[in-house]
Amino acid sequence: MDVHSWSRPDQIRVRHLDLVLKVDFDRRILDGSVALHFDRLSGDELVVDTRDLTIHSVENAEGFELGEADPILGAPLRIRVARSVDWVRVHYSTSPTASGLQWLDPLQTAGKRHPFLYTQSQAIHARSWIPLQDTPGVRVTFTAGILTRFGLRAVMGAEMGAENDGDGKLQAFRMDQPIPSYLIALASGDLAFRSLGPRSGVYAEPALLEAAAHEFEDTEAMIAAVEEMYGPYQWGRYDLLVLPPSFPFGGMENPRLTFTTPTILAGDKSLVSLVAHELAHSWSGNLVTNATWSDFWLNEGFTVYLERRILEKVYGRERAEMEAVLARGELDREMARLPPGDCALHIDLAGRDPDDGCTLVPYEKGALLLRTIEHSVGRARFDAFLRSYFECFAFRSITTAEFLDYLRAELPNPVLISAHIDEWIFRPGIPQGAAEPHSDAFTRVEAGWPADTGKWSGKWSTQEWLHFLRTQLPPDMARLDREFHFTGSGNSEILHQWLLMSVKAGYAPAYPKVEEFLSSVGRRKFLKPLYSELMKTSEGQERARRIYAGARAGYHPIAQAAIDAVVS
Ligand code: BES
Ligand code: ZN
Repeated sequence: MDVHSWSRPDQIRVRHLDLVLKVDFDRRILDGSVALHFDRLSGDELVVDTRDLTIHSVENAEGFELGEADPILGAPLRIRVARSVDWVRVHYSTSPTASGLQWLDPLQTAGKRHPFLYTQSQAIHARSWIPLQDTPGVRVTFTAGILTRFGLRAVMGAEMGAENDGDGKLQAFRMDQPIPSYLIALASGDLAFRSLGPRSGVYAEPALLEAAAHEFEDTEAMIAAVEEMYGPYQWGRYDLLVLPPSFPFGGMENPRLTFTTPTILAGDKSLVSLVAHELAHSWSGNLVTNATWSDFWLNEGFTVYLERRILEKVYGRERAEMEAVLARGELDREMARLPPGDCALHIDLAGRDPDDGCTLVPYEKGALLLRTIEHSVGRARFDAFLRSYFECFAFRSITTAEFLDYLRAELPNPVLISAHIDEWIFRPGIPQGAAEPHSDAFTRVEAGWPADTGKWSGKWSTQEWLHFLRTQLPPDMARLDREFHFTGSGNSEILHQWLLMSVKAGYAPAYPKVEEFLSSVGRRKFLKPLYSELMKTSEGQERARRIYAGARAGYHPIAQAAIDAVVS
């Protein structure tokens, strides 16, 4: 049972959707229908999730009732179906404030001339644009016909039909492999396409296409790297879509079409661990899926582990270790501010928004557990285990308990696993014996400051710069800026780190940049720490409120909700 869905897949289970939607940029709504094809196990009531949907009618049903809306879950749509019936069609339209949609004005795009729409369904936002059984425990295949504005292209995380040339015809899509609802994705805007390899490519606004193709040129090598370790890529094509800067996440692993923030276009491929991450979800997450949001670490912990293995194979061990060490530091900082209950891998989310569980714990503590098991049993054995895990559970949604059973059966290692595994999964903190990452390059960075920095820093990678900045206590902001020009950095991670330090240190020359950054970027991971830091002083609070008043309308509903809780 998934506490974040009204649906009862144990009674009637949807297995296929036929979606027909018109993208109405003027009214900011999607308008159309979805046919739900289902298997009946018992009863005569099909329950689907909705949030802020207007239900016009339900075809092929005996009747329907939209229940009362819960603030977190939305409202159940209860549809009575006759014994002989195995499909219904719901005619509906979305709300202009749908939590899973962002409608962008032309001015919020790179080209400034055309509007843009994209969806973000994870965790429980698919229900705000499609009435469906919105739980990762239910998988569906689908077809879709999308009518968008003349001249704009529509793309989906699905196989795209031949007519996708943006000429005003209905654009057709199909997904023949069963996927959970949180992976259903659509975008429409002025998009161009560039091929990267035989089965990969990138969609972006024309102004960004060149930069994106350059940044992502190692995509094919990354796919080959995972395949060599963990088995064939199962989804046909792997394309990337670069979204406008208001996208609230770094990336989203929609099948066949990863959505990404443009803030990873650094020009030097230094931030492409995000591509490795979203690609890795094609195995961990999209093939083997968390059954509920309490099992989220099965998606993200495995994916971060795979991400680092890809980095190691494509860019070398030092790069992978640097990223692991940086993330390890962030995990400690995160755990220090979280309640103990949220520091376990499997967490109880009853009555809570599943977004509450989206901390660094499932990501980094999860990856650290897998790394620790790898060290304990040896890489060859662990890779064989992972390969068989992905094969055994492919196209299924599983719980933490099912993973543990499989682990105990396949890797019966008395020393590590049985002694500490429950502590890793159900208790806060990092158990004894964790395989801690280490970077020699970082040791050299620490030794270089302050005397030799000028000599060495010319060769530093983004990761070394980040380590350098994070270990400056207390920093001489003016000197650092004079020597290294951080306020003018074109690398979003370095700039974010610098702006955060600037707010902490009261370094006024960077304030205009803080405002510009917060007004142009909507990535939650950047916004939340900056606003939180500003809110710590009364002068900062005033600036935070003023900046947010101007910037809020440009943020995604998910980012708005996060920042509403910070700035008051
Ligand atoms: N699937 C997540 C994004 C997500 C998680 C969206 C939970 C909604 C709810 C994606 O794969 C992810 O982890 N993105 C990270 C980047 C990654 C490199 C750690 C992000 O957006 O920061
Ligand atoms: Zn992820």
